[in-house]
Amino acid sequence: MQITCTINGKIHRFDCAPETRVLDLVRDAGMTSVKAGCGEGECGACSLFVNGRLVNACLLLAPQIHDAEIVTLEGLQEETAAIRESFAEHGAVQCGFCTPGFVLRAYDYLSHGGERSEEAIRAALDGNLCRCTGYKKIVEAITKVKS
Ligand code: FES
Ligand code: FES
Repeated sequence: MQITCTINGKIHRFDCAPETRVLDLVRDAGMTSVKAGCGEGECGACSLFVNGRLVNACLLLAPQIHDAEIVTLEGLQEETAAIRESFAEHGAVQCGFCTPGFVLRAYDYLSHGGERSEEAIRAALDGNLCRCTGYKKIVEAITKVKS
C-alpha cells in the first residue's frame, strides 16, 4: 500500500505492507534517533511525535500515519538544544541508546509547563527505560534545563 506523510517537514512516500511498523519506516527513512528497543511499548526508545502527540513508534502500523505529520529528534535540534546540553553537562548519558526518547519526553513535558520537581519529573518519565544511568542524573538534567 502507498503511505504518504511528512517527516520533519519533508514529504515521504512509502510503498509498504500494512503491517509495517512505523518504527521501521522512519528508521529506513534515515531517522536513526528513533531506536528499536523493546518493540512492545515499554521502553520509550522509539518515541516520536505524530500530529503533535508523543507516541511509541513500535506500536504504530503504517496506515496509522497516512497523511500525518511526524517529528523526530532530528527535526527538533534547535528546540531541544538546551535539554541536550543539560544531559551532557549533568552526565545523564552513558550508552546513549535511550537518550533520544528521554530528550523528546523532557521536551514534551517542559514545553507543556511541566513542574521541575523531582517527583513530577520522575512521574513524567514513567514510560522511558534506561539500563545504564539509574535515572538520578537524567532527572537532575531535566530539573536544571536552562530556559
Ligand atoms: S521500542 Fe518502542 S517502546 Fe520500546
Ligand atoms: S544511557 Fe544507556 S540505556 Fe540509558
